[in-house]
Amino acid sequence: MASAVQLRVGGGVGVVVIDYPPVNALGADVRAGLLEALARCREDDSVLCVVLRGARGSFVAGADIREFGQPPKPPSAIEVFAAIENMNKPVVAVIEGVALGGGLELALVCHYRLAVAGARLGLPEIKLGLLPGAGGTQRLPRLVGFSVAAPMILGGEPISASEARDIGLIDALGEGDLIEQAMALANSLRSTDGRPPSIRDLVQHVEGARRDLATLDAALAALVKRGRNRRAAEAAAKAIRAAATEPFEEGLKRERALFLDLLNSPESKAQRYLFFAERTAGKVPPKAASVGPVDVQRAAIIGAGTMGGGIAMCFAAAGIPVTVIDRDDASVARGLGVVEANYRKTVERGGLSRAEMLARLALIRGATSWDDLGSADVIIEAVFEELPLKKEIFGRIDKVAKPGAVLATNTSTLDVDAIAAATARPESVVGMHFFSPAHIMRLLEIIDAKKTGPMALRTALMLGKKLGKTSVVVGVCDGFVGNRMALGRGAQTERLMQEGVLPRDIDRVSLAFGFAMGPCATGDLAGLDISWRIRKAKGRVAPIADWICEQGRFGQKTGKGYYRYEPGSRTPIPDPEVESFIRSRAKSLGHDPGAVGDEEIFDRLMLPMINEGARILEERVARCASDIDVIWANGYGWPVWRGGPMYYADQVGLRIVRDKLARYTAKLGDERLKPAALIETLVGSGRSFADLPPNDR
Ligand SMILES: NC(=O)c1ccc[n+]([C@@H]2O[C@H](COP(=O)([O-])OP(=O)(O)OC[C@H]3O[C@@H](n4cnc5c(N)ncnc54)[C@H](O)[C@@H]3O)[C@@H](O)[C@H]2O)c1
Repeated sequence: MASAVQLRVGGGVGVVVIDYPPVNALGADVRAGLLEALARCREDDSVLCVVLRGARGSFVAGADIREFGQPPKPPSAIEVFAAIENMNKPVVAVIEGVALGGGLELALVCHYRLAVAGARLGLPEIKLGLLPGAGGTQRLPRLVGFSVAAPMILGGEPISASEARDIGLIDALGEGDLIEQAMALANSLRSTDGRPPSIRDLVQHVEGARRDLATLDAALAALVKRGRNRRAAEAAAKAIRAAATEPFEEGLKRERALFLDLLNSPESKAQRYLFFAERTAGKVPPKAASVGPVDVQRAAIIGAGTMGGGIAMCFAAAGIPVTVIDRDDASVARGLGVVEANYRKTVERGGLSRAEMLARLALIRGATSWDDLGSADVIIEAVFEELPLKKEIFGRIDKVAKPGAVLATNTSTLDVDAIAAATARPESVVGMHFFSPAHIMRLLEIIDAKKTGPMALRTALMLGKKLGKTSVVVGVCDGFVGNRMALGRGAQTERLMQEGVLPRDIDRVSLAFGFAMGPCATGDLAGLDISWRIRKAKGRVAPIADWICEQGRFGQKTGKGYYRYEPGSRTPIPDPEVESFIRSRAKSLGHDPGAVGDEEIFDRLMLPMINEGARILEERVARCASDIDVIWANGYGWPVWRGGPMYYADQVGLRIVRDKLARYTAKLGDERLKPAALIETLVGSGRSFADLPPNDR
């Protein structure tokens, strides 16, 4: 038998263990091993019951997605699943760790399911632009009902073992001797005809859904609307509907056809690319590979403002005690007040229990004295964005932090090398650039400065993981990767407005591409005054954006910015005051408002980002193109089903990108649009960004 699956027979039970590192994915070896183990159990009269479980404390994390896009390797999951479902002896899935995607589908063909506390169960295929293609869309609704199954399939979020028990997805919570419990379960629930029960035969929920298809359709339509990848969401909805309207076998066929269509779709390919890109980004760079991280038991944050408070919430969620320090009692109280208000809102929305809120609040301590800094394993600075202030703070931290503590700055634009130089231990200094709101946004840019040592880098990466972030290691440059590329787009946004293009047109074109928000609405949300202040400090001018700020229009916080906002609303409403200013200014400069079409608007927003991304690669600020894509997909509302700006450029073709950039450089006389040398080189050698090996940053 293939070593990916082991069978142990004894005491009337055949224990089948899937052992396929790292995550027990359902690869071809596992499938073949399962078939063989089942055949042996079937033939062995001493086996009365089969227990299926995963090695290393986890069931099965899903299909082996490395097989996607490859010629199919027999036996198929469908074949293996049929063998389990039709088994003449009861098969019990014992779920520890995770049962996700194909793993949960495998559990659904078993006759009984046990899961231990701490296990996570779900169908996350939608996050790869797919749907569960091995019966999940047909069996889950039959077992737990359509109104529960549909959001699980279209949302893709896993649930806990106790939630799974509450909705009937598992038969019991497992504890103690799981094999014994599994056998007892199989005996107690054995159906009267002696045949083990199959989910496929359940009719109650199907009949209910059939009686009221209108309700099902409305629920599915609402879920599709929320889906990020429309195509995958629509296909998943169709498959679920088929579970209600078609006989089981027909439903399975329909699901399969829809799955195969998605598998070949450019949207899913892009999402699968990002899945691997995130794993590549999370790898420890060679520089830090030989050291272990600092074990972070206590943390401290300096600055209890917007970012400091949000970062404190990240630590509390990870169960790490954190002290938040600010200048005076009033600032501390204000900062902690915002944190508490955030928690209360989450509790009201049902996103957190009151007990959990109190437990997290108890982990966050406010202070004005620096006494706690001496015991912190990591200190994150999040004070105002002013270099002299940050240098002064790091100079002081140096005197009180314990040896080996990691000293991180959350600066978004300042030179981390200069900040590190303010200490006598620059090797302990690293940038940890969280995004706002820090407790929600997944992206973390880790800034590996010139003198950042392996230990600090390794700890920042480990911490990113503990805090549930998607980390990307980048080098020092103005704005690091994400903001630097956004700046290129921002310059064109301003320039387009000077030519009479309205904020709503710029945003409409961005939304049509799939961005969650357009750049003007995003500016209003973030606050326009921040970049205004930076422009003034750097002697830069942006006539339209400056005028907007001079009118006191700082965005949502003042009720108006590029748009206006009704009190209490975040919906941008085009404002005639701004639009007439833009139009008349454009006319006075000799432009014809309305002359720039959507295609040009799109190109001028997109191309500068790609060009800047190429320069970032040239300068080795990012390790590889896919790291840049991970940043944009996780921190900037980039549509995941389009892969990321560098992936997108590769799909368009770098020759086309280069030619367009050259054309716009000539038309606009803007040197920043001149094709980056790297793009020229790649075009010259017929390569793409994806062909570039990771550099050794
Ligand atoms: N707001 C964002 O979107 C965002 C995103 C990423 C990074 N950042 C960066 O995070 C940092 C903080 O930004 P923010 O938006 O939270 O600012 P903020 O103004 O909301 O908070 C800054 C806090 O620092 C405190 N502070 C100032 N001097 C101090 C001192 N000497 N000792 C202790 N506390 C002091 C202030 O009282 C204030 O509470 C900046 O470097 C900023 O560039 C901000």
